[in-house]
Amino acid sequence: MTTTVLVTGGAGYIGSVVVDQLLARGHAVVVLDDLSTGHREAIAAGATFVHGGIGDRGVIAALFERHRVSAIVHLAAFALVEESVANPEKYRLNNVADARVLLDAAVAAGVQRFVFSSSCTVYGIPKVVPIPEDAPMAPMSPYGETKLEFERVLRDYATRHQLSSVSLRYFNAAGATDQRGEDHDPESHLIPNVLAVALGKRPAVNVFGTDYPTPDGTAVRDYIHVEDLADAHARALEVEPNGAVALNLGTGHGSSVRQVVDLARRVTGHPIPSTDQPRRPGDPPALVAAAQRAEAVLGWRARRSSLEEILASAWRWHRAHPRGYRS
Ligand SMILES: NC(=O)c1ccc[n+]([C@@H]2O[C@H](COP(=O)([O-])OP(=O)(O)OC[C@H]3O[C@@H](n4cnc5c(N)ncnc54)[C@H](O)[C@@H]3O)[C@@H](O)[C@H]2O)c1
Repeated sequence: MTTTVLVTGGAGYIGSVVVDQLLARGHAVVVLDDLSTGHREAIAAGATFVHGGIGDRGVIAALFERHRVSAIVHLAAFALVEESVANPEKYRLNNVADARVLLDAAVAAGVQRFVFSSSCTVYGIPKVVPIPEDAPMAPMSPYGETKLEFERVLRDYATRHQLSSVSLRYFNAAGATDQRGEDHDPESHLIPNVLAVALGKRPAVNVFGTDYPTPDGTAVRDYIHVEDLADAHARALEVEPNGAVALNLGTGHGSSVRQVVDLARRVTGHPIPSTDQPRRPGDPPALVAAAQRAEAVLGWRARRSSLEEILASAWRWHRAHPRGYRS
């Protein structure tokens, strides 16, 4: 059955790919985005765009009045860990308080499905790796706290308002499609920063922490292709979750910073100089998903997330868009 899906944050990196896949599967899509970190150019022509904030009651009331929304994929949020430490209130307001405005309007409008962009940051420094969904949650930043807090809100709404929800805990989103890629300012993610060196936009890439208890001493992360992430969202709209469910989205395999830089050298043919730096406070040594629950619930597993495919696709996009969406 095709439905009208509201995608908040559909002008962002991950949201724009989610929009493309939902349209390709025959859904009607409305994008709500205030363009605070997203790009108008990233929104597919086939989607209806509403320019506004998730906390703007007037905009949201008009949106639900105009469109028969049956499901929401909620990606809109601020997502910079360091900024959240400097300005936690900005994060609580956008990621929790304003998100509740959207949620209340959704419940009032009879929306029955809600898919939420959560994050592996909810786990903090894990005791067990790969990390299962029932691992203790102890976020290390206000950003991670906002994700945990909104998951709690969704659990509460499942009981009080019978709202079914799936919280997708992404590990490290990476890669690109031919049309959509990562264009953040500032950019905090490793792969676009490595590729910026290959494009001559930066002299060297910083390697934060070389003395972790990992095989080569650098931090290990579970990189997941943005197309695999988008596929999981489309599947999450198709299942009938019982209450509020949380699922890891990762591959179950980690790559170290050095492995990423080495492979990027091969993919780009550029020497990509790197500079060793001290650890950053709060960065765990290894974050790798136990990914079985997403496979059991959604029939999903990562298919395009080899590090080679991630780097090659990101490189194609960055080379074609050296100034991001301004290219
Ligand atoms: N990129 C990752 O590796 C990663 C990992 C875990 C979780 N996440 C989560 O996934 C989601 C998307 O991340 P992304 O990397 O695509 O970020 P992004 O910054 O590219 O996209 C976020 C989008 O939300 C919009 N937005 C922000 N606040 C808004 C508001 N109040 N009203 C309307 N629109 C608003 C922005 O303009 C932007 O288009 C976020 O919720 C983020 O926390 C991302």
